[in-house]
Amino acid sequence: MDAIYSVQRHFYDLTRKPYLLGRDVLLRELNPPANGSLLEAGCGTARNLIHAARLYPDLRCFGFDVSQAMLETAASSIGQTNLTDRISLAHADADGFQPHSAFGIQRFDRIMISYAFSMIPRWESVLEDSLNMLEPDGALLIVDFGDQLNLPHWFRAILFSWLRLFSVTPRLDLFDAIERVARSGHYKYEVRRLYAGYAALAIIRGAGNPDK
Ligand SMILES: C[S@@+](CC[C@H](N)C(=O)[O-])C[C@H]1O[C@@H](n2cnc3c(N)ncnc32)[C@H](O)[C@@H]1O
Repeated sequence: MDAIYSVQRHFYDLTRKPYLLGRDVLLRELNPPANGSLLEAGCGTARNLIHAARLYPDLRCFGFDVSQAMLETAASSIGQTNLTDRISLAHADADGFQPHSAFGIQRFDRIMISYAFSMIPRWESVLEDSLNMLEPDGALLIVDFGDQLNLPHWFRAILFSWLRLFSVTPRLDLFDAIERVARSGHYKYEVRRLYAGYAALAIIRGAGNPDK
């Protein structure tokens, strides 16, 4: 990942804003409990963690990434805010992530995974592991590239070819996998296609979560 991000991280937030769509929808849906905890897997430059900490002033935020280069940018961005005591970072791979070794915490009220599943080869295993790190009333929120089916065919073809250059593979079976793990673990879930299918949003709630 460092090979991809060591240069890009310097202009990452500016260039991704127009096409990593749906991230702010996800942040508004977090709705964490008072003094809750939030984990972001593949936090990149910490753009989402900083927004979440501002939106929810008593939220404790934790983020990890496999790219040390991205984490350097994340630490620098957080350092320019007054949120340094509320956002913690760790260097780790989502595949096999051990929350207690990274942050001394076993479970989180909210976990978000934003545009990272499309870069993680064993994303289905990360999906299951993430559900196991939720508090009983917790929620896992995912946003990523969607199926693009309501957009012109040429757009889908160009987008997918371009994403391949960055080792990004839209997970066209994301909703099926979510339905499968949610049903087998008795989670409640909802999925939404955003912007004519450009982005996919999923929210999976633990059985004790009072939200619908
Ligand atoms: C497209 S960026 C999204 C960053 C951030 N989540 C956002 O929405 O702005 C994907 C991030 O996932 C990270 N990543 C990719 N594979 C990972 C893995 N196996 N474990 C942890 N992070 C990973 C990349 O290093 C990168 O920072």
